[in-house]
Amino acid sequence: MDPVMTQTTNENEFARARAAMPGGVNSPVRAFGSVGTTPRFFVSASGPRVTDVEGREYVDLVGSWGPAILGHAHPAVVQAVQDAAAHGLGFGASTPGETELAELIASRVARPGVPVVERAQRDAMPPAHSPVVEPTDAHPPVVERAKRDETPSTHPVERVRLVSTGTEATMTAIRLARGATGRDLVVKFAGHYHGHSDGLLAEAGSGVATLAMPGSAGVPAPIAAQTLVVPYNDLDALREVFALRGAEIAAIIVEAAPANMGIVPPAHGFNAAIADLAHAHGALLILDEVLTGFRVGPAGWYGIDPVPFTPDLITFGKVVGGGLPLAALGGSAALMELLAPLGPVYQAGTLSGNPLAVAAGRATLDHLDADAYARIDRAAAQIADAAASALSEAGVTHVIQRSGNLFSIQFAAEPPTDYETVKAQEAFRYPPFFRAMLDQGVSLPPSVFEAWFVSAAHDDEAVGQIIDALPAAARAAAEATPA
Ligand SMILES: Cc1ncc(COP(=O)(O)O)c(C=O)c1O
Repeated sequence: MDPVMTQTTNENEFARARAAMPGGVNSPVRAFGSVGTTPRFFVSASGPRVTDVEGREYVDLVGSWGPAILGHAHPAVVQAVQDAAAHGLGFGASTPGETELAELIASRVARPGVPVVERAQRDAMPPAHSPVVEPTDAHPPVVERAKRDETPSTHPVERVRLVSTGTEATMTAIRLARGATGRDLVVKFAGHYHGHSDGLLAEAGSGVATLAMPGSAGVPAPIAAQTLVVPYNDLDALREVFALRGAEIAAIIVEAAPANMGIVPPAHGFNAAIADLAHAHGALLILDEVLTGFRVGPAGWYGIDPVPFTPDLITFGKVVGGGLPLAALGGSAALMELLAPLGPVYQAGTLSGNPLAVAAGRATLDHLDADAYARIDRAAAQIADAAASALSEAGVTHVIQRSGNLFSIQFAAEPPTDYETVKAQEAFRYPPFFRAMLDQGVSLPPSVFEAWFVSAAHDDEAVGQIIDALPAAARAAAEATPA
């Protein structure tokens, strides 16, 4: 496709945008605030490339922050959206496509049966604390079920609710957990990002980390107090929180494999351990797969975590909407049917299950087969290896952590394991690295706290272009000094 040519510049567009929108953007990280250059205004994208208003083309490693996993404007996805649009943009009523997408999500989120030996070992493990389940009048059966169910299930999604953003998905999952348990408190981990709802902004990753904000103004203190923030990968700290307040905790929410403070993989068995701890206390585990879901594998991180575990609710976004606004939450029928209209937990949306977004999501999932994942994994490994070599060659202290095909650079000697160690890195090396890549036609995430998103369209030519740009960027990082 020919790029859309315009007479303007990125500089002009940014000036005009700032006069019309706060910071010139509709999502903070797009302002390029932490990388010290003018944000690019894009007019078209195709495969692994994006084109800005000046007609300059870049190999893209942002991928619309995840959804463009097949590459930009994948013909089958575009066709599916066009076909859907021709039949009506939305009805405010149910469509067969929504059911098909819900069925697709439920069938993909599965893992092979847990080996009997592993099951026996897990059952023999003493719980971290004796269960402190406060029976609630509201819905005891669900909590009781969660408490009893020590065997990892292989199909944790029996019912799905489609929403429009990841923020809505996590917000709804938390309301559902509170409704199911009759408890108010939520545990989250420092550096994890779950969207911008009031209760989840405390010590959040992604844009909140990029702007070095501790949270957000406008969140009432009593609401902030309902969220307990715990260091990531620290089971002892979590046990302590449960020992003190376990009977009040509705849920733990966790990024399945954190990618919003850069990549910080879960310690081996961490997700299983926190699932056990939550269940031992009658609380639920909300596994946030908005970023990892259908990206790191056909069943998301749930499908590849080396130690099986049972999340109670899973949230999805990004890939599941194929580039249009769609997200979802899923879980057991018993839990999910507490949602209105069957149950007392209210959730609704004018655009929920919009036919265009559903069509994009279905077409994307349909094309995410074993071959597509193999291509993404291969390209991601090539780029990550080349980045490591270039940085080593330039003498830059760094680590590259990976969670499946997601990876990011951290300017640290040891792999960061939590938000504190992530923040301690030499982050000042990233802006010159980023700018050098941009100058050479490679668009990276404009923050050291974000993952690099590789797509199935990153062919040898695109990967080669990235690899060729890395040595100069690594030298720029080597020469960087603290601001
Ligand atoms: C893990 C995770 N959860 C939730 C969200 C929020 O999703 P959205 O931006 O669609 O509201 C994000 C967004 O980056 C995310 O990475």
